Amino acid sequence: MRIGIYGGTFNPIHNTHIEIAKAALSQFNLDRVYFLVAGTPPHKETAESTSDFCRLEMVKLAISDQQHLFIDDRELYRSGKSFSYITMTELKGEYPNDDLFFIMGSDSLLSFKDWVMPEVISECATILVAPRLGDDKDVLNQAISDCNESFKGDFALIDYTANGLASSTIRSLFYKEESVRAGLCQQVVDYIFEHNLYSPYIYTYEDVVGLLEEMKKALKPSRYIHTLGVASTAYSLAIRWNYPAYTAMVAGVLHDCAKCISDEERISICENNNIPISDIEYKYPHLLHGKVGAFFCEEKYDVFDKQIAHSIVYHTTGCPNMNLLDKIIYVADYIEPGRDKQPRLDVLRSVAYTDLDKCVFMILDDSVYYLNSKSEMMDPKTIDTYNFYLKEMEKRGK
Ligand SMILES: [Fe+2]
Ligand SMILES: [Fe+2]
Repeated sequence: MRIGIYGGTFNPIHNTHIEIAKAALSQFNLDRVYFLVAGTPPHKETAESTSDFCRLEMVKLAISDQQHLFIDDRELYRSGKSFSYITMTELKGEYPNDDLFFIMGSDSLLSFKDWVMPEVISECATILVAPRLGDDKDVLNQAISDCNESFKGDFALIDYTANGLASSTIRSLFYKEESVRAGLCQQVVDYIFEHNLYSPYIYTYEDVVGLLEEMKKALKPSRYIHTLGVASTAYSLAIRWNYPAYTAMVAGVLHDCAKCISDEERISICENNNIPISDIEYKYPHLLHGKVGAFFCEEKYDVFDKQIAHSIVYHTTGCPNMNLLDKIIYVADYIEPGRDKQPRLDVLRSVAYTDLDKCVFMILDDSVYYLNSKSEMMDPKTIDTYNFYLKEMEKRGK
């Protein structure tokens, strides 16, 4: 077999990566190309803090309909810094009778001699170089012939016309420019939105601790303890479902920030700030604590992330087609460790980590049953949400 290995951080993977892999496949008659998702690359600072698993999942989505493209995730699990020569040595051991091809960008070629043990890499594999936009062809050809002289093994240029997309551009302009999003496959675009990646708002544990101090002042002691439970449960769920964990924690910390004010205050805040109030919210103004809480995020706590605000608005009723953070906060509010009155909590607490949508549906199912049995008026949003997830579950065949 002729096997291509294409290493990179893929933060995020975009169409150019796929095109380079396909160009290498056809030009060098490769049987397959593995995307080698880098752990901690020794020669390049990893920009921002996108989790390794998010990068890996995006690669999976991007190659899901590609026949000859695969993933190698070994570097994510290796301790210490992950050097390419270690991986290539391992691969050569695993494929002793096959031809290996190591695919790299032209920027990597220019610094190749400074890598750790570059001679090991070039002895294990033919090096295929992908040009980048703006490359001077003469400089590139010179670098290739220099490498062919200095190292054992072959270096060759992939015949590919580079475009201008770089992952760093995508990270900085993803939310601002549609043209940038057009350079990614739709599933990856959806994933980035859903997982709140490359957001201008990045939260830290210090932010969480600071906001908890605020909540200690704003909430009654029992509500504060509940808040701690929701924040820590949101953290665990976020880790499980690859959502930025401190962002989820901030949402958990603030979700009930408008719980300990009077009904009159909630109504007047809404009326004075053009926040719509439904009939049932006028009747039961405590239902407004989600909307007012979202308003407080920006007004009182300098938290501007739209997903956090959205999750707080809908944390009691849910809404059809909730995004990932909405589901995390909705579920965390229901299953946090201090809860003890709801039925089948042990099951819900387990299902939350194996099937989040199913857990959401089970909670809705219980809530609708409970509210019906109490003949309490139900927020129509809860019914809409229940019907939406009922259909989702039916689609899946439960
Ligand atoms: Fe609440
Ligand atoms: Fe709550």
